[in-house]
Amino acid sequence: MSNNGAAGQRNNSEKSQPSVLPDLEENGSRKKPDIEIREMGVDDIPAVFHLGEQVFTADKTPTLYRTWDEFEVISIFNEDTEYCLVAEVEGQIIGFAMGNVVTKKKSAWKYGYLVWLVVSPEFQRLGVASRLFHKFEDKMVEAGVRIFMIDTEADNLPALHFFRARGFGSPQQHIYMTYNPAATEQQKEKKRNLRGKKNGSKYRRGS
Ligand SMILES: CC(C)(COP(=O)(O)OP(=O)(O)OC[C@H]1O[C@@H](n2cnc3c(N)ncnc32)[C@H](O)[C@@H]1OP(=O)(O)O)[C@@H](O)C(=O)NCCC(=O)NCCS
Repeated sequence: MSNNGAAGQRNNSEKSQPSVLPDLEENGSRKKPDIEIREMGVDDIPAVFHLGEQVFTADKTPTLYRTWDEFEVISIFNEDTEYCLVAEVEGQIIGFAMGNVVTKKKSAWKYGYLVWLVVSPEFQRLGVASRLFHKFEDKMVEAGVRIFMIDTEADNLPALHFFRARGFGSPQQHIYMTYNPAATEQQKEKKRNLRGKKNGSKYRRGS
């Protein structure tokens, strides 16, 4: 994943509603949508980017929020177009999967890394991600992939439930840390000033 560091925080209350919503059953529950899963095209890039922006929020998924940007979408699309899929309903992108095949020089094994999997909130829990993942899996297996990898925040429960239900296991802990040089320098400066004041008052008391 690319990382653009401490990006400015967006006001997510401004996010736009999709113009397409799931049809409802007579009892009010949402019908499974009639979706098409297809390879992503260059014209889909803006819609994919905006859907990611809508879903990865600074409060709920801070790491995914920081690492999601236009360059992330463009670079994965350019390098691994065949592993970039979209879910479309009535001409609107409501989900996507993007990943790549990782090979190691000293290993015959190929790893399939699912970097991004997103479904528009209005269409979640209707089997869209499952459909995207099945197609992604088929393509990866065809390419000789034997092990799949994903990563997400430890408290991203919908994603964890989803991946566990798909057979993912053996979670490994991985810590992300952040460093802000300007803030660190300010703190050091504060400490230096405090120390200076203390030394000054000691000097006055002793004199
Ligand atoms: C994770 C995500 C892609 C799942 O998409 P989805 O289309 O809702 O998933 P599906 O409808 O195919 O769910 C399949 C199964 O996964 C599990 N699951 C999915 N979402 C769940 C949730 N919120 N709570 C509990 N289980 C969940 C269930 O077992 C579900 O089967 P069921 O609905 O029959 O119970 C979606 O929640 C999402 O876009 N999240 C935000 C982006 C994100 O965090 N992506 C992962 C990291 S890149």
